[in-house]
Amino acid sequence: MRDLSSAAIGAAVSGAALAMLGRKPNAPRAMRSALWGCASLGAAVALNELTGKPVPFLRWSFLRLFLGRSPRTGWQAGDGREEALAVHVMRHARQADPDDAIRVIDDFSRQHSFMINIGDNKGQILDRAIQRTQPRRLLELGTYCGYSALRMARVMPSDAHLYSIEFNPANAAIARRIWDHANIGDRVTVIVGHLGDGGSTLHRLRAEHGFTDGGLDFVFLDHDKSAYLPDLQRIVDERWLHPGSVVVADNVRVPGAPEYRAYMHQEEGKSWHTREHRAHLEYQSMIRDLVLESDYLQG
Ligand SMILES: C[S@@+](CC[C@H](N)C(=O)[O-])C[C@H]1O[C@@H](n2cnc3c(N)ncnc32)[C@H](O)[C@@H]1O
Repeated sequence: MRDLSSAAIGAAVSGAALAMLGRKPNAPRAMRSALWGCASLGAAVALNELTGKPVPFLRWSFLRLFLGRSPRTGWQAGDGREEALAVHVMRHARQADPDDAIRVIDDFSRQHSFMINIGDNKGQILDRAIQRTQPRRLLELGTYCGYSALRMARVMPSDAHLYSIEFNPANAAIARRIWDHANIGDRVTVIVGHLGDGGSTLHRLRAEHGFTDGGLDFVFLDHDKSAYLPDLQRIVDERWLHPGSVVVADNVRVPGAPEYRAYMHQEEGKSWHTREHRAHLEYQSMIRDLVLESDYLQG
């Protein structure tokens, strides 16, 4: 689907940069290079939209996420796309149908605004890990709008329960609305917090949600990439895992979790056995990514 407003923004950025270049012929070299960069990028975004089959990572909604307000601060893109997604799901997905909610979210993320969900391709790696493990108690770090939780709830055993930790209360509320619409709200619990908050969220998981020694079968890491390793260490220190528990980690290559990957290499055959799944960053096929699936060997 063409996004003509995106094409117009690209053309405007390009035109403004070219106009400035024309007005400042003696500007310093660095400034001229930056202006040429803006002009080229703007033109590429505009042309990309006009092709009718735009490349996702050249779309304004993708660039805005990385050039604009950082998801690391607010974990929302800053242009209301998360709320727009919730409204879109309510309008277009059949009620009580998780498959249809997933389809509508994937469609929105490809055609309207790029979203940082695990996406349909890497999502299949997550699906298969759950089908192999048949977990009863699952923990997700990083709910966002609830897409990966929908996928997990769809394939986990009927008596299983997923607990999903989300740092941003607005994201947690959006996920809850989408899950209620898809009728999985009683199988998934979102908890606003993070495991590095001095013990408060860990305590809530034990006291309010029945987390016990050896009782956690599956963990999905998809939050702050620098927190993957310390948060996994916290889970291990709580003694919640058992031999055979599985941890899946998204985005190990992009944006990247190098310390986590190095740790899994170092522990290979000792406390963990890891498979590395080569994949692509969500909703496009140009940027490569890695998903790690690790079996816990020691408990
Ligand atoms: C990449 S998104 C998660 C995508 C989601 N798993 C999916 O595939 O649909 C990352 C989410 O993690 C949240 N987050 C960031 N740091 C966190 C932390 N330390 N603990 C829990 N959630 C965190 C962000 O607010 C954001 O909603």
